[in-house]
Amino acid sequence: MQFPEYRPRRLRKNPILRNLVKENDVKVEQLIQPLFITFGENIKREIPSMPNIYNYSIDRIEEEVKELFDLGVKSVILFGIPEHKDHMGTDAVDDNGIIQRAIREIKKHTPDMNVITDVCYCEYTDHGHCGFINKDGEVENDRTLEMLADESVSHAKAGADMIAPSDMMDGRIAVIRDALDENGFSHIPIMAYSVKYSSAFYGPFRDAAQSTPGSGDRKGYQMDPANSREALREATLDIGESADIIMVKPALAYLDIIRMLRDNFDHPIAAYNVSGEYSMVCAAAEKDWIDFDRTMDECLLSMKRAGADIIITYFAKRFAQNAAGKR
Ligand code: PBG
Repeated sequence: MQFPEYRPRRLRKNPILRNLVKENDVKVEQLIQPLFITFGENIKREIPSMPNIYNYSIDRIEEEVKELFDLGVKSVILFGIPEHKDHMGTDAVDDNGIIQRAIREIKKHTPDMNVITDVCYCEYTDHGHCGFINKDGEVENDRTLEMLADESVSHAKAGADMIAPSDMMDGRIAVIRDALDENGFSHIPIMAYSVKYSSAFYGPFRDAAQSTPGSGDRKGYQMDPANSREALREATLDIGESADIIMVKPALAYLDIIRMLRDNFDHPIAAYNVSGEYSMVCAAAEKDWIDFDRTMDECLLSMKRAGADIIITYFAKRFAQNAAGKR
């Protein structure tokens, strides 16, 4: 017998063999591109902390949506920056609010685009918290639930294809499901931000959405990064309340959590590859410390390997361009 008898390198000899035994792949059709819609006209403004990611005004959104669709990115998740923020975040439920108008605009030109909306209040309130704040400065869970239900129905009425609540209030999936069903939207799926950590990786997003809380932080409702068993409880609750897709956010520093959910549930799992994860790669590549595309591919692949089906990522367009050989 020749030592070693089993040689793993045999199957790494050339690209044909390597592809033959490849276990995981990132598919363009399972990527979701986040889009930031801002008030105003004729605006396409790059977000300083997120190279190549822009704030679009409604009249400029279509060019981007069409390009994405043609590249094969057929799902987008929308975030809105309204002109007026107030205590109750009223723009979030206004039929002529920033998101409602953006949905109608996208659906008018690219009706097949799968339009997902982020349901939360932090982008709409003047205090920047994710729900209703009472006199004691606390985010009131049950009052917020009603507001989230109204926001979801309003998005669905405007034509949203999927609702994605990111607020982390208790009981929201059940309340939103009920409200959607009662209003004739029982066919609209809910992608729940089930396991959302209180994370420093959201930094650039808060820049983009102008949603940093005026005071305090989100630790009273988002999860503690030290916890993993709690992720099982959160996902169990959301599934019990009829969530269609469960999400883990952020992704890169939480691959263990994605794997844990994959091993415990058979629902589709989404990973949110958040703003800070994107910007770190951009910043290091700008300095020529790493290769942008190879690092991007490796990050996305790691989420797939951990067990994610869907990836929400600011890399979606770039990845699709590379896949189409358009760069
Ligand atoms: C809104 C929301 C946030 C993100 C998605 N939805 C911000 C937050 O909770 O502070 C973060 C996305 C990212 O960093 O890319 N609640």
